[in-house]
Order: sequence, then structure tokens, then C-alpha cells
Amino acid sequence: MKTQALAQIPETKHAGGPVVRLSDVVKVYKEGDVEVSAIKGITFDIPRQRFSMIVGPSGSGKTTLLNLIGCSDKPTQGTIFVGGQDVGALNDNAISDFRAQRVGFIFQNFSLIPVLAIRPTEAAPEPAQRWPEAARRHSTRSRKRAGFCSR
Ligand SMILES: Nc1ncnc2c1ncn2[C@@H]1O[C@H](COP(=O)(O)OP(=O)(O)OP(=O)(O)O)[C@@H](O)[C@H]1O
Ligand SMILES: [Mg+2]
Repeated sequence: MKTQALAQIPETKHAGGPVVRLSDVVKVYKEGDVEVSAIKGITFDIPRQRFSMIVGPSGSGKTTLLNLIGCSDKPTQGTIFVGGQDVGALNDNAISDFRAQRVGFIFQNFSLIPVLAIRPTEAAPEPAQRWPEAARRHSTRSRKRAGFCSR
């Protein structure tokens, strides 16, 4: 079922379009009666194959925005396209697959699981991801190249 949902995601249809497109995106956090407007209606594209930065003062909504683009959170209003896919149109299973297979974050700190070696750490999300064999081989090659094989 998860694979069927992923199959609906067009791989190349929007290959020439922006990698990210936001239209009138609003994010309001609600905590009881308190509402915090973290993003107040933004519209922009991130073009493909460009190095893009999101900058702003503390509290201006950078993390909120990255969580939305990375599909870890949903906007209160507006639409977000990532790789040509309207991510708001995906159900929870499909969004999990999309995130696992299309979105990558490189964190400032390592976010390793302290009690695990590298391979088990890397394998932790695999049941959800169901990595294709090619991805698994690529990962092993990358670890070898980085000299992490024995850790
Ligand atoms: N889970 C949350 N619940 C309620 N309010 C939140 C939540 N996350 C962020 N906020 C509020 O949303 C606004 C934007 O926060 P956000 O963390 O996105 O800013 P930021 O630009 O990443 O800040 P920093 O540079 O300090 O990391 C802030 O007012 C923050 O207090
Ligand atoms: Mg932040």
C-alpha cells in the first residue's frame, strides 16, 4: 500500500520546475488558547541546482519553514510543492514514504544513537524506508569511502 502511494508521485514530470514552491503558506502554532503565528503567508520558489539559504533572526520561523518543506509538519494554510509533488495532497503513509525517500537533512550535530555502531544506526529507519538494494549498496560504499566500516 505504501509503495502504491509512492508510485503516484511523479518522478520527472516537473523535472524542470522549482525544487520547492510555497504559495501563501501560513503556520500558526496553537497551545491551548495561545496562538503563535510563526509564518504569516509566504510565497517563494527554490530553484533546482542552486545553493539556497534561509536566514533571519531568532524566532523568525526558519525551523518552522524547514519542517514544512521537509514534510515533518503541515501548514495551517497554503500549498507546498516539493519536487513537483503537492505534499498537502499526500496521506500520512504516503508522506512518510515521501520523506524517507526524497528528503534528506544534514544536521549541525551528528544526531547519532550513542549505544549503536554506525551500521545499526543507519539501519534503524530501514523497516519504514524499505530501502531499495541500490540505496543500500550506495550507503555501504559511502561508509567505506569515509573510513567508517569498522565503527
Ligand atoms: N512547537 C511550537 N509551539 C509553539 N510555538 C512555536 C513552536 N515552534 C516554534 N514556535 C514559535 O514560532 C516562532 C518561530 O520559531 P522558529 O523556531 O521557527 O524560529 P527560528 O527562526 O528557527 O529561530 P532560531 O533562530 O532561534 O532557531 C517563534 O515565535 C517560536 O516561539
Ligand atoms: Mg531554528
